[in-house]
Amino acid sequence: MIRIGIIGVGTVGTSVAEILESNRDIICARAGKEIVVKKGVVRDLSRQRTIDIPLTDNVDDVLDDPEIDIIVELMGGVEEPYAVVKKALQNGKAVVTANKALLAYHRYELQEVAGELPFEFEASVAGGIPIIKALREGLSANHIESIKGIINGTANYILTKMMNEGADFTPVLKEAQALGYAEADPTFDIGGFDAAHKLLILASIAYGIETKPEDILIEGIESVTQDDISFAKEFGYTLKLLGIAKKVGDYVELRVHPALVPQRQMIAKVDGVMNGISVIGDKVGETMYYGPGAGGDATASAVISDIIAIARGGKSSPMLGFKRPLESGLVLLERDAVVTKYYLRLKVADRPGVLAKVSQVMGEQNISIETMLQKPARGDAATLLLSTHACKERAMQDALKDLFRLDSVKERPVMIRIED
Ligand code: HSE
Repeated sequence: MIRIGIIGVGTVGTSVAEILESNRDIICARAGKEIVVKKGVVRDLSRQRTIDIPLTDNVDDVLDDPEIDIIVELMGGVEEPYAVVKKALQNGKAVVTANKALLAYHRYELQEVAGELPFEFEASVAGGIPIIKALREGLSANHIESIKGIINGTANYILTKMMNEGADFTPVLKEAQALGYAEADPTFDIGGFDAAHKLLILASIAYGIETKPEDILIEGIESVTQDDISFAKEFGYTLKLLGIAKKVGDYVELRVHPALVPQRQMIAKVDGVMNGISVIGDKVGETMYYGPGAGGDATASAVISDIIAIARGGKSSPMLGFKRPLESGLVLLERDAVVTKYYLRLKVADRPGVLAKVSQVMGEQNISIETMLQKPARGDAATLLLSTHACKERAMQDALKDLFRLDSVKERPVMIRIED
């Protein structure tokens, strides 16, 4: 028998307990052992719950219980769960966590502490999609060329509604929150931070790269408007918040931002709250993973798969794919050196010579314009939408500053990267 302690009995923790009960036969058959929830840890013991498991509000009741084999950490946050998980590992317990923010900051320290102890985290990225096991096991013969993921359901829900229904940002965010997919602080979803946490976890497995969220480019979807959507439609793109990890020689590019993606690509068809991840391996080619990235049962499905793997006696070390950080020899590419195509939205004065000035600025930075669209003027200002051929981020940032200095440019230009 395997006994588990669940720390944090919210939506996911409740689903874990329920599924362990409702799917007991198949889980027991696959694990080769019975799995029992010995205790759950909650903040508020007086709250009514739908499950019947022994509860405590003292985390040490499970961390110090010699009968508990696996700690399931579902608390959320960073520093508090870090202390809890560390103590669990120091007490010799296996750990399963769904906590992407914890891993974004402390995955390498925890890997050190875990040593040979199982430390599993399938549910931390893309909820029910077994992407961690796909990278760590299924694709382990490959050099990973790129990972492109829609790994935040809330942002994808908002962008899908804006694309398909012409909806505005704020009311759709409210809907997504009501549906229960958003983080406690929804700026994590729309600001790209939640996707960045997940991307860093994937990049560790694929590239052995040790990075923190502060090290990488993170842009959210707050500035997207219907003008951008109409450009996307006009030129055969859809708009997605992407997490991108890409090997470029001895470097790894890591970035999270809204991106224009050609409508024919599979990832462009991942709509609503669903998640989708394209992984290209040098031998296998492109593989694609699709499924629910959030929600109690979907996330619990991933948590329980980890519990079953541990019950079977599988060793998960090294959890991040490489024995030590940077053993792969790859380093993070500087943001300024990223090369991609761009889309720009400019509010300009509608008068002779303005286009010439805009294209002069682009020419000075050696940026070549690919397409251009002018929306009808409202008053004396027109909206100019243009896309460029590939150029370095540095050149684009300089061009944006120069454009904003022009008299004829009325507002700070908006830029969105294009991922062809
Ligand atoms: N807030 C996350 C999302 C939940 O919207 O995808 C799962 O991590």
